[in-house]
Amino acid sequence: MMRAHVLHLLLFQIVLTLILPFSAAYHIGVNYGTVANNLPPPHQVVNFIKTKTNINHVKIFDANPDILAAFSGITGISLTVTIPNSDIVSLSKLPNARSWLSNHLLPFLPATSIRYIAVGNEIIATSDKTLIAHLLPTMESLTLALHLANVTGILVSTPHSLGILSGSSEPPSSGTFRRGYVKTIFAPILDFHNRTKSPFMVNPYPYFGFGPETLNYALFNSSDVVVFDPVTKMNYTNMFDAQLDAVYSAMKRVGYGDVDIVVAETGWPSAGEPNQTGVGLEYAEAYNRNLIKHVNSGKGTPLMPNRVFETCIFALFNENLKPSVSEQNFGLFKPDFTSVYDVGIMKN
Ligand SMILES: *[C@@H]1O[C@H](CO)[C@@H](O)[C@H](O)[C@H]1NC(C)=O
Ligand SMILES: *[C@@H]1O[C@H](CO)[C@@H](O)[C@H](O)[C@H]1NC(C)=O
Ligand SMILES: *[C@@H]1O[C@H](CO)[C@@H](O)[C@H](O)[C@H]1NC(C)=O
Ligand SMILES: *[C@@H]1O[C@H](CO)[C@@H](O)[C@H](O)[C@H]1NC(C)=O
Ligand SMILES: *[C@@H]1O[C@H](CO)[C@@H](O)[C@H](O)[C@H]1NC(C)=O
Repeated sequence: MMRAHVLHLLLFQIVLTLILPFSAAYHIGVNYGTVANNLPPPHQVVNFIKTKTNINHVKIFDANPDILAAFSGITGISLTVTIPNSDIVSLSKLPNARSWLSNHLLPFLPATSIRYIAVGNEIIATSDKTLIAHLLPTMESLTLALHLANVTGILVSTPHSLGILSGSSEPPSSGTFRRGYVKTIFAPILDFHNRTKSPFMVNPYPYFGFGPETLNYALFNSSDVVVFDPVTKMNYTNMFDAQLDAVYSAMKRVGYGDVDIVVAETGWPSAGEPNQTGVGLEYAEAYNRNLIKHVNSGKGTPLMPNRVFETCIFALFNENLKPSVSEQNFGLFKPDFTSVYDVGIMKN
């Protein structure tokens, strides 16, 4: 009896440890952008994230050694570092990729938990043929460099804007990659992801896609079906799902529907120009709060049921050196760590 009781307790504990982190799990990350002159030092930022929030992933737009050092020894928060667009061409050569790795990441491993290397940001959208041509070779050379350094557990990817899709991508099942890029760019990139088990990263922004009639749809604030897809018979009540399913449809069309998708950026500004509609505190709060709830519900999208997408909100802080008022106001927090609005990611 005693043993059965103990076993029971033990099982109960195992179940608890399995379930609790999961049900309390936040697949929520933040983009820690630093285009500002008033941000606190990295060690304060890391301490804040670790002790005050449930954020478990942080993406940075470079490989800033001060930030990597600040994350040293921090458990439960993983990082995405970014190779600046300007380094992509040079890092396509293996010796350069190996020395970049030695200089920028290896000094911080394994104490700093790095999960992804993002090669550039929204490269296809630059329309720069040289950069685009070197994107996959650099992803390959960094992967090989990691392998040669015996580093495991760091995956290489590159975040794409939704500009990679052609036309309107409505309904979602019609999602297709831009003409001329399918065979030369996306099929080989998706093959790379499939081989290396790395995710396809996208930056869906319903904020850039809504019109006067679709604001609530963009904010996850509509229970009505707004888009019916006559091909799949699926019903869409929010634009985020529709955007992800359009990406999925494009991937599936090339044969890679099983490659994981990571949402590298999404967000909504809490302030803008006086003539901007749908921009303000209540809209940003609605979008990000509903986004977090939706992502953590684990229900996925109509075409990808029960799939969970690691999602990185843009951004951690308001960044005062961004060019426009709306771009300066994507932050969840002000530089003094006070919340701009409450999205339910604070501990307790
Ligand atoms: C990687 O591991 C192999 C086999 O364990 C070893 O021979 C090699 O020296 C290691 N390379 C590095 C860079 O540590
Ligand atoms: C979507 O809505 C239509 C019309 O109400 C309905 O016929 C269809 O079954 C719904 N699709 C799904 C997948 O629930
Ligand atoms: C993706 O990788 C799996 C093996 O992991 C393979 O069976 C499958 O054929 C690959 N898909 C494509 C489209 O190459
Ligand atoms: C909104 O105002 C800004 C200047 O504050 C101006 O540049 C922009 O063209 C205006 N947009 C519209 C749609 O009126
Ligand atoms: C979202 O919907 C709720 C309920 O319909 C409404 O009270 C709230 O004002 C809406 N929020 C926004 C930002 O539109």
